[in-house]
Amino acid sequence: MCGIIGFAKKGDSTSLSCVEILKQGLKRLEYRGYDSAGIAALTKNGMVVVKDVGTVDKLFSYPEIQSIEANVAIGHTRWATHGRPSKINAHPHTDCEKGIAIAHNGIIENYIDLKRFLSTEGHVFSSETDSEVIAHLIEHFKKAGMKPFEAFKKAVSMLRGSYAIVAIDSSEPDKIFFARNVSPLLIGIGEEVKFVSSDLTAFIKYAKRVIVLKDGEVGYISPESVHIESIDGIAIDISSRISSIDASIQDVDKGEYPHYMLKEIMEQPYALAQTFSSLQTQDLSDILRELENARRIYIVAAGTSYHASLLGAISFKRFLGIEAEALISSEFRVVSRAVKWGDVVIGVSQSGETIDTLLALREAREKGAKTIAIVNNQFSTIARESDYVIPMRAGPEIAVAATKTFTSQALTMLYIVAKLAERASIIDVDAKAMMQGIKMSYEIAENILNTTQDIAKAIARKLVDKQSAYYLGRVFGVPIAMEGALKLKEIAYIHAEAYPAGESKHGPIALVEKDFPVVFVYIGFLDEHIEGNIEEMKAREAWIATIAPENMVHGSVARYSDTIIKMPRAPLETRLITYIIPLQLIAYYTAVAKGLDPDKPRNLAKTVTVI
Ligand code: F6R
Repeated sequence: MCGIIGFAKKGDSTSLSCVEILKQGLKRLEYRGYDSAGIAALTKNGMVVVKDVGTVDKLFSYPEIQSIEANVAIGHTRWATHGRPSKINAHPHTDCEKGIAIAHNGIIENYIDLKRFLSTEGHVFSSETDSEVIAHLIEHFKKAGMKPFEAFKKAVSMLRGSYAIVAIDSSEPDKIFFARNVSPLLIGIGEEVKFVSSDLTAFIKYAKRVIVLKDGEVGYISPESVHIESIDGIAIDISSRISSIDASIQDVDKGEYPHYMLKEIMEQPYALAQTFSSLQTQDLSDILRELENARRIYIVAAGTSYHASLLGAISFKRFLGIEAEALISSEFRVVSRAVKWGDVVIGVSQSGETIDTLLALREAREKGAKTIAIVNNQFSTIARESDYVIPMRAGPEIAVAATKTFTSQALTMLYIVAKLAERASIIDVDAKAMMQGIKMSYEIAENILNTTQDIAKAIARKLVDKQSAYYLGRVFGVPIAMEGALKLKEIAYIHAEAYPAGESKHGPIALVEKDFPVVFVYIGFLDEHIEGNIEEMKAREAWIATIAPENMVHGSVARYSDTIIKMPRAPLETRLITYIIPLQLIAYYTAVAKGLDPDKPRNLAKTVTVI
């Protein structure tokens, strides 16, 4: 979950500043972890390492970093796993002689054995991390007479666990060595500079071509070349592996917005339009056939992607009468014995790297099921390993809290459902109208963004001092309520619980007293009984905010809601995709009102590559 960047540039490329490349790259990787940051550069005076706890901005305010000039350097932004966030535990880590520096993302499972062995060989460790063993192992094999790359490969072959590693060595100062197993790593190819990084957003400004490394691959970059081989030494022809990057620097810049999260919320009309037109150009016929013939459909995902999957599963059942089950990917074992040949498992993931989702899909494949990936990152491991891929093309999502990818995931799943409905000619489902409703989502999203800002801010002012809130809905409203509650929890640090509104009187209502905030999501389809739930909450003097279609604001909704977010008249499918938007805004403005940085929620990282 850490972020890595390394670059090797030509000596005469005066337009490329080492400090700028590292700073911009690390800032774009900060979403992967921001406990601490560090860099190591090979300067004409040898290896320079600067690292500390805190943000990338803090690191780059140090005078010793600003004067660094180097053509080869690595950087790291950390999300702590082994060893608390501290200066000594920050990466890069060096060997005893400080001639080798490494940065690592992942977990080295056998580090205790390796550390013990290296200590008996006289190596002295400076950190509590699992990663530091890598630098000392390389040193160990070099001392045994190996050349730097051979020593690097030998060291990598001894590691167990997950890793993306970059290493620099002052005895071979024009190269960055790299290795990948499980944790993502990409090579960026520019004219004057080559990169190795966890994410293409770190180098998109300078490189427009990319190679996605596979597990078990090692190699090196130099300013002129990229070399990749398998860990057992078989050279790999890279020509067929190079892809063009279709995102631009604007896609990863905050622009005029104070936070990435707000930018991405506001971008939703565009992201939805992109996803819709991308789906229209994809040949989904094989995927639709697999789904039609599936013995059973499972949808696996985590966090926000799981909430979108719940919406998808309800849509399969409700519109098509097809049994589909959404599962939290880390809980896949609950059903894994039941998964068989003939089943289809859909993995939904923004990053395409979430380890729990990846492992669930791997297990499903082993059992003979077909796998379909719905991902935003088309260069991801989940995309590469699945039988079929549906890229959403919502554009890079940088803020830790997922927003535009939730609406794009919802649109994608409803699109598949509409396509299946079209092929099956289901009597009571008008597939054409359904598709029209899906298509309308981007216009309506725009309208919602224009009309709900002030009311979202007012609700945020109400929530700012609260400890707890309920988010309630029925049927399709439940996953939307769950997603709204997750947003409030993760960025505004307010305990928010979502559950089906009908469950209130089976326990949760016991917590409700005067002014307890309850947010109702009223979709206006299969959820008319929510009126009774609103009354029950009001009878306990709860403070009620209700999201409701403007043409359905009557009865208890009108009478007992303290505030109503009136949503524009729109078809059901549009409502399912867009009703999350005011909830995203409420969470965002609450975090801002509390003086928190919504882009950097504590303890969280955007890409979760540890189990
Ligand atoms: C919440 C959030 C996380 C992710 C989850 C899955 O705002 O961002 O809950 O949704 O970690 O990530 P992906 O979709 O990349 O698999």
